[in-house]
Amino acid sequence: MSTISEDIDLFTPLFKYFRRLPDINCFKEAYSIGTHPTLFEHCPITVTIDVDPSLGLQPITTWSLYSCKFSDGLYFLSNPFTSVGQRQWIDRCITIYPRQDKTNLGDNSNNQHLARIRWATLGYHYDWTNKIYKQDDHTKLPNELVQLSETIVKVISSNTNCPMMQPEAAIVNYYHINSTLCAHTDHSEYDALTKPLISFSFGNSAVFLIGGQTKSECKPSPILLRTGDIILMTGASRLCFHAIPRILSDPLLNDILYTNMDDNDKVCWSYIHDKRININLRQVYT
Ligand code: OGA
Ligand code: MN
Repeated sequence: MSTISEDIDLFTPLFKYFRRLPDINCFKEAYSIGTHPTLFEHCPITVTIDVDPSLGLQPITTWSLYSCKFSDGLYFLSNPFTSVGQRQWIDRCITIYPRQDKTNLGDNSNNQHLARIRWATLGYHYDWTNKIYKQDDHTKLPNELVQLSETIVKVISSNTNCPMMQPEAAIVNYYHINSTLCAHTDHSEYDALTKPLISFSFGNSAVFLIGGQTKSECKPSPILLRTGDIILMTGASRLCFHAIPRILSDPLLNDILYTNMDDNDKVCWSYIHDKRININLRQVYT
């Protein structure tokens, strides 16, 4: 017999809590290696692979990979990018990805509407209304994005027991400082249980909440995601409720990303200085 307490939503109260908490407290309370070191278990990287320099990554031997003790199957890779590399990814998200594919502004929209862009889909396009992918609604996933995801997943899977994944669909989310992303699970993919989802953060910081497979299973945990950070969801965490209750203006963003700006960098900075971009990739059909 189920009791009332089993059905209590433990997710929404924490979402509302972080949505309203002052920035400084968010930075302190959301989990990071600096603030909550005991919640992360370091995964030594002993197996390395060749990395294409055009991906903008630091040498693999310098990467810091952790498994998250508070969410089974969740991995956190602390920013492995060079600052030039991050700038290139931000630039692509601003100038290339919204133009060639589907966005909330319609198909093949141009740069002029950048202020109003919220999402772009690439590869198999997600049908937001019916929560499905359609086999016949597909544009090419950009090569560099496939290569980046494959490289990261390969390094993580060859150093942990995380399975491999073949990226087939990407969603690029564009957040303003006041944007949020409601609690949801990503379960529209054919084999979500075993195929990891990889997620990249660029620009301002975010509080990422991850709970259980129902909203009442457990209290969600808040993770601080900063520019360049990568999370990989596999195992139980792959089907867990998650949300972004808060975007946090990062006072160090300019120093991290844009010292010695050229003209193109100035265009990117004028967009990203008060935004966050998230790219997440999934295997859809196999
Ligand atoms: C998503 C998602 C999280 C983020 O797009 O499904 O969960 O970090 N994004 O923005
Ligand atoms: Mn999601």
